[in-house]
Amino acid sequence: MKREKQYPMKRLVRRVAFVTGAGNGMGKAIALRMAREGADVAVNDLDARTLGRVAAAVERCGVRSLAVAGNVADPGDVDRMTRRICKHFGRIDILVNNAGILYPTRLMDISDDEWRRVMDVNVNGVFLVTSRVLPSMTRHRWGRIINMSSIAGRSVSTIGGAHYTASKAAVLGFTRAVAKEMGRFGITANALCPGMIDTAMTRRTISNPQLERYCRAYPIARAGTPDEVARLAVFLASNDAAYITGAALDINGGDLML
Ligand SMILES: NC(=O)c1ccc[n+]([C@@H]2O[C@H](COP(=O)([O-])OP(=O)(O)OC[C@H]3O[C@@H](n4cnc5c(N)ncnc54)[C@H](O)[C@@H]3O)[C@@H](O)[C@H]2O)c1
Repeated sequence: MKREKQYPMKRLVRRVAFVTGAGNGMGKAIALRMAREGADVAVNDLDARTLGRVAAAVERCGVRSLAVAGNVADPGDVDRMTRRICKHFGRIDILVNNAGILYPTRLMDISDDEWRRVMDVNVNGVFLVTSRVLPSMTRHRWGRIINMSSIAGRSVSTIGGAHYTASKAAVLGFTRAVAKEMGRFGITANALCPGMIDTAMTRRTISNPQLERYCRAYPIARAGTPDEVARLAVFLASNDAAYITGAALDINGGDLML
């Protein structure tokens, strides 16, 4: 009997990934998962020291890494980082726009400055990095863009303020627009919409008892792990997801149904 063709063990061999906000949480988990799947990974975060540790962990997976510290909301930083990655690796195939910030501030207490800060990182940052990476992807006629939205973008944030919800909804619209315009270049763009994930962002914002109370109500009655989200990001970056674009994938333990 003819044996079914085996999938290669690693799904991202010879790809170059760029993950923003990779010093912690989901960004770090995504960088490491992509490295284990064979991709070379450029990692970004604000703080060079934590980033160095993540880059070293990426290299222990047997691939190449590059740490590019900088602010995704600063056009100068983004120009410098993307130029450096393209010089080092020759191209960028996979972009994960993961860097994000959250404040739990109630609507009537949000200052103009705080509103702008959230939009700057969560929305403008996604645009800036995407716009600088697209020339490399169009040149190679292949690309995967994965934008970190949230269940907040589909509904309303449980723990973040109105600025956070608005920013994550904007990411969904931007993702669809990128998917529409860039499909003809072999580029897909999709968004991830995680629910409550156990990261520093969540722990900074709510107490342990609050977290347990929220999670108890979910059909899968626990918080998600960064690695569970990372596995979904790897799928979207792989050839298995070639016909998925403009989508927003939920990963929330069933929270959205409640
Ligand atoms: N934790 C959750 O439950 C949850 C749920 C849905 C979506 N998200 C989103 O997922 C993403 C990752 O969240 P997380 O929970 O891992 O957060 P985290 O705070 O643990 O990690 C985010 C990382 O982004 C970095 N960062 C922040 N601003 C930056 C900037 N301007 N430039 C570069 N790096 C910057 C931070 O330094 C940090 O290392 C965010 O976009 C967040 O909004 C989180």
